[in-house]
Amino acid sequence: MTSTKLLTIGLITLCTGLLGCERQVSYTEDIQPMLFASCLQCHDKNSEGYETSGFSLDSYDTVMQGTKFGKVVVAGSSESSTLYLVVAHKTAPEIHMPPHHEDALAEGRGISWTDEQIETLKLWIDQGALDN
Ligand code: HEC
Repeated sequence: MTSTKLLTIGLITLCTGLLGCERQVSYTEDIQPMLFASCLQCHDKNSEGYETSGFSLDSYDTVMQGTKFGKVVVAGSSESSTLYLVVAHKTAPEIHMPPHHEDALAEGRGISWTDEQIETLKLWIDQGALDN
């Protein structure tokens, strides 16, 4: 193995493992469009999810306010953030989001996020959940 190859492997390892050279996620460009597309219909004022949980997704501020029981985003820690846990299916099945009960599925509302979408949300929270 040449030293150039070794150096390349070393840099890749450093980048993915230690430094996390991932892109900066933007709330406005990446997160809000995903939330609006699959969550807002139930988490807007006067809708089903809002009535039950008090959680409105219509602006950055309401996302950060959380539900009537407390915050769902802990800036810097996706693993402590309910918002991430419910879409990544790391909670009790009853609160997976979007809910995949039959009515929601029949209306095409219950489709889970792709791994890439889930990863983007995770990154945004881990990068500090900025209003960027
Ligand atoms: C079909 C309507 C519907 C859709 C779509 C929906 N939700 Fe919900 N959501 C609800 C309801 C109803 C609750 C209250 C559940 C409960 O507490 O039993 C809830 C609760 C929540 C909670 C609070 C969970 C808790 O117990 O603290 C979060 C966070 C949440 N939703 C996020 C999302 C996200 C993110 C999306 C989009 C990926 C989404 N929801 C899509 C209906 C919906």
